[in-house]
Order: sequence, then structure tokens, then C-alpha cells
Amino acid sequence: MKTKASVSPELIRLNIEKLDSQGDGISRDATGKIIFVPGVLPGETVLVRKTTEKKDFSTARLVEIEKPHPERVKPFCPWYERCGGCQIQHASYPFQLKMKSQVLEDAFSRIGRMLPLEGFAPVEASPLESGYRNKISLPVSRSENSGALEIGYFQKRSHRIVTIDRCPVAVPVLNEILKEIRAGIAQAGLLPYEERAKQGLLRHVVLRGGQETGEILIILVVHHSPDPSITKNIISMARRIRKRYPQLVGLALNFNPSAGNVIFGPVTKSLSGRAFFYERLSDMTFKFDATSFAQVNTRQAVRLYQAVANEACPSGGENVLELYAGVGTLTCFLAARSSRVLALEEWGPSVDCLKENVSRNGFSNVRALGGSAEKLDFSAIGPMDSVVVDPPRSGCHPDVLDHIAQLSPRRVIYVSCNPSTLARDVGLLCREEHFHLHKVLPFDLFPQTCHVESIAILDRGSS
Ligand SMILES: C[S@@+](CC[C@H](N)C(=O)[O-])C[C@H]1O[C@@H](n2cnc3c(N)ncnc32)[C@H](O)[C@@H]1O
Repeated sequence: MKTKASVSPELIRLNIEKLDSQGDGISRDATGKIIFVPGVLPGETVLVRKTTEKKDFSTARLVEIEKPHPERVKPFCPWYERCGGCQIQHASYPFQLKMKSQVLEDAFSRIGRMLPLEGFAPVEASPLESGYRNKISLPVSRSENSGALEIGYFQKRSHRIVTIDRCPVAVPVLNEILKEIRAGIAQAGLLPYEERAKQGLLRHVVLRGGQETGEILIILVVHHSPDPSITKNIISMARRIRKRYPQLVGLALNFNPSAGNVIFGPVTKSLSGRAFFYERLSDMTFKFDATSFAQVNTRQAVRLYQAVANEACPSGGENVLELYAGVGTLTCFLAARSSRVLALEEWGPSVDCLKENVSRNGFSNVRALGGSAEKLDFSAIGPMDSVVVDPPRSGCHPDVLDHIAQLSPRRVIYVSCNPSTLARDVGLLCREEHFHLHKVLPFDLFPQTCHVESIAILDRGSS
């Protein structure tokens, strides 16, 4: 498969059929071959130039919109055209929700080859359309031309950094802290880590915190331990920022010496204050380690968790197995409605938080286990009414799905941020009539992006 840059100078007129799961428009050229075009909307007529030509599909760059969609809007972020963080900011919010529904339904009919018996619910809108993200992770590098420090997001499908001053979808105070850090890093003598030359130190700046508690944590991801003088400078920077922003609860270093795209390494050390923060969801408070997973849209996550708990425990008092439990946010919503919960999580720092959070919120009906879902001894856990899974984007290992089928709970509640792997895994669970797909409840946790979170509710086949 050969790829040529700027393969065709000629303009092609296209009608856009729909969007794919990456937020790109799908169309076809005169020969019927699929063309992907970023920045367009379904129903638009556009002029494009092909940028790559592969055996089964091409990609193209938008040149002109001849017939715009009535729901097309001016993006509110000045970096939107270049930054890879958001994909559908050029659509009105109600239309974004409609496009997410279509992507989800496509995944189920194309990959899972099934439709839910009760259908798909409309995508539930987020309470905030911008300013909702409680975490930003920004790669750091040095400009090849000027040598200046670059902190931003990766450009779409590239490792080139688009320098941004602020991210309008982030909680506003995170942008104020980002400004302080940008100046502080240069002053502290922290050099970006350069993968090719294997020089420098700083790989990512991560800012996260509690939207409800207001707590903020800075995490600097470094390749190796800094010199004592640099360490001292970083501590001074943290103190300076805390003077202006007392809600900054700590600055931590996370060490990631490995090559590749994973942001966090296994070891985290606090340099100033704490290496964790607290967040409130509904009337419960949770501790999050610097590297633990958190839903980025706190207020919408509360609605998601409430819906999962209602579906997993329709009458209250059920026995629930929860896999991929993180720090135990969903666990506590489940515990409030069930007889007992067995919760499993793999990431060590999250397991510690999970145990602490369960007792912090007063639940004595939860057993929290550390370990991977693939290695869980399902034969030793006894009968379960409901199994709840909330795996990473890659979905569940097929062995885990087989074990769930053998355990034969009355219902499986599958929470996912990736319609493709959700549809694939639900398809596997419904094989041989083990389970029936009852309904799918989508929630928008990520306004302005192409992502959608969903809950698939499956009932045991024979019931
Ligand atoms: C999408 S998060 C969900 C966490 C939690 N339900 C929440 O809403 O905060 C997925 C979690 O699964 C964990 N995880 C990833 N692979 C795992 C595995 N093989 N076994 C158990 N847990 C795993 C991750 O560490 C992460 O905490």
C-alpha cells in the first residue's frame, strides 16, 4: 500500500454521506472508492484535493464548502483548525449529539451486526459544552526552527505540537495555571525531552483536579530524575504558583523512561505538597492518585454512574461483580444500591485509592481486589446478579467475555468510551444466545470531540 503526499492537484466535488468514528466525513469518488475528509459535515457539498491514495480508500483536504450544513457554526477555539484535540467544533452542539448517535448505531450494525431490542436512547447532553475537562495532558518539545519551548496538543494524526495558550474545553483555572507553568518551566531550566537525540528531561505537563472541590495537581512527566538544582527550581515554581493559586494542592514528578505513546510511567514522587487530589461526585468524596483514571467531565460522570447503578441494581440488593473499577467512583454508586460488590482493578495506585474511597464513603459491602480481569479466578467468586465492566478503549480480552458468559449473571452492564470495541464485545457476549442486547444509553462526556460514552445493557438469554 503506497501513500503519496499531495497526490492530486485537481479539485474534486463531493457530497458527504456521514462522519466516521474519528470525526472525518465519509464520501465516495466517481469510482465508488471511499474518501475521508476532515472538517466537513454530513449533507455538505464540498470541493477537496486528495492528500493520500491507498488501495481501499483515499484521504482529502477540504478546499471549499459549496453547500454548508445549516448546523455548521464558527469554532470557538482559535487553534481548532490545527489542533487534534477536538474534531467536531464546527457543528452546533445539538447536531454533534445527532452525529454521535449515528456513529454509535453504525458501529452496532456494522461491527456487532445487531440492534438493541429496545433501541438506542438519544445521546444525553453534557451540562457544560466547554470548560468541562478536569484534566489536560500536554506534550512538550522544542521548536525545530526557533528552539523555543512548545507545549500544546498534537496536531491531528501527527507528533507535531500545536502550541496553545489555553484550551477552551478545559476547566478555566487549569488554563491560568498553564500560563504560570509555561513561564516557570523556562525559568527553571527544564529542557524538553527529545526522543531522537535522547536528550532533555520533560515529556508532558499534566494538569488535573477536582471540578467540585477546586483542588488542582500539577504532574510533570520526566524521562529521568532531574539534577538537584533543577529539582530546587521546580519546587520554587510550585511555591510561587501556590501563592497565587492556593487551590494547587501539589506538584508531582512522574518518571517515564520508556519509548512510545503512554503518558505515565510506573513511579510518581511528590516534590511539593501532595501527589493526589480529591473530587466530589454527588454526595461522596474520592481520592485520585496523580496517575489514576478519572472521567474528565465530572458532572456528566455522576449521571452516567447513576444510570449504571440503576441498570445493574433494578430492585436494589443485587450481588454485583465490577471489573475495571479504577479508584472506585462507580463502585460506590453501585454499593449504595446493592447487597455486595466485588470490585477489581489492575493499576496499583488506583487499587489503593479504591480501598480508601470505599471506606471513606462508608461502604462495608464492597470487597476490593487488585489484579487483572484476565487473571481473575471466576470459579471462586460465587453467583452474581449483575456484572459491570468499564474497560479501557481497547475493550475486554475475549477470555474475560467467556468467563462472564460462564458465570451467567442475570445482566451485564458494559460501559465504554469506544463504540467499535463495545459493539465487538457485545457481539461476542450475545453469541450462542448467552445474552440479549436490551438497550444502549449514550452519554456525551466529551463535547466538541467525536467521542461518545455508552452503556450497553444485556439480559441473560433464557430470561
Ligand atoms: C475506563 S477506566 C474505568 C474506571 C472506573 N470505572 C471509572 O469510571 O473511573 C478503566 C480502568 O481499567 C483499569 N484496567 C485496565 N486494564 C485492566 C485489566 N486488564 N484488568 C483490570 N483493570 C484494568 C485501568 O487501570 C482503569 O482504571
